[in-house]
Amino acid sequence: MLTGKLVTFEGPDGAGKTSALNAIVAKLQPQLGDRLVVTREPGGNQISEAIRKIILDRHNTAMDDRTEALLYAAARRQHIVQTIQPALQNDQLVLCDRYIDSSVAYQGAGRGIGEQAVYDMNQFATAGLTADLTLYFDVDAAVGLNRIQQHRQNEINRLDVEALSFHNRVQAAYLRLLADHPDRIKRVDASQPLDQVVTQALEIMASQLPAYVASKGGEDQ
Ligand code: TYD
Repeated sequence: MLTGKLVTFEGPDGAGKTSALNAIVAKLQPQLGDRLVVTREPGGNQISEAIRKIILDRHNTAMDDRTEALLYAAARRQHIVQTIQPALQNDQLVLCDRYIDSSVAYQGAGRGIGEQAVYDMNQFATAGLTADLTLYFDVDAAVGLNRIQQHRQNEINRLDVEALSFHNRVQAAYLRLLADHPDRIKRVDASQPLDQVVTQALEIMASQLPAYVASKGGEDQ
């Protein structure tokens, strides 16, 4: 029985999603302790981190788009089996930085190999394991890219260097996912200052997952 909950964090590059996730963890950790599991894709274990290195290596310019999609899905499969599923069986709250929606948006729409095809291939990889809640950190693709160029010069990866048109397709796909799955995916306005982004995300988590997240994050904001 998967009694825990899976919350995924999604958004275009430069949305500040990872900074928000770190701040959310800092707020929730004191209340949840061992009930909180924080992880990321691609990665989360030795095999998936090794796959991550191959995918994001800027020198791998010969990588085929379908190869890329399959590698993300392979990393995801291993991550589910080794990390996510055991945590959900153990009644834990899993916060995961990116999941299937990233593949649908980046590979399906960004690379143009088909959102439905990538979704279907991921159904095989995940055996249907869906997030209970997805926070979508929404920021305009151009604003996101600008943030990356200003703050992360030394850690720009193979996907960050894609053209604005690629990132616009990614964002448009995310907005379609948001419209198609209103119960699962909730929008966070990531153009706000970080503390407001975190407050909004925690409010959504409290309303959707009251067994894990107290309203107002359990503290003064
Ligand atoms: P990362 O450095 O973790 O970026 P971010 O902090 O923006 O999450 O790199 C992950 C990159 O991989 C990011 O550009 C999105 C991309 N990605 C996909 O294209 N497909 C996927 O399925 C996943 C999980 C990530």
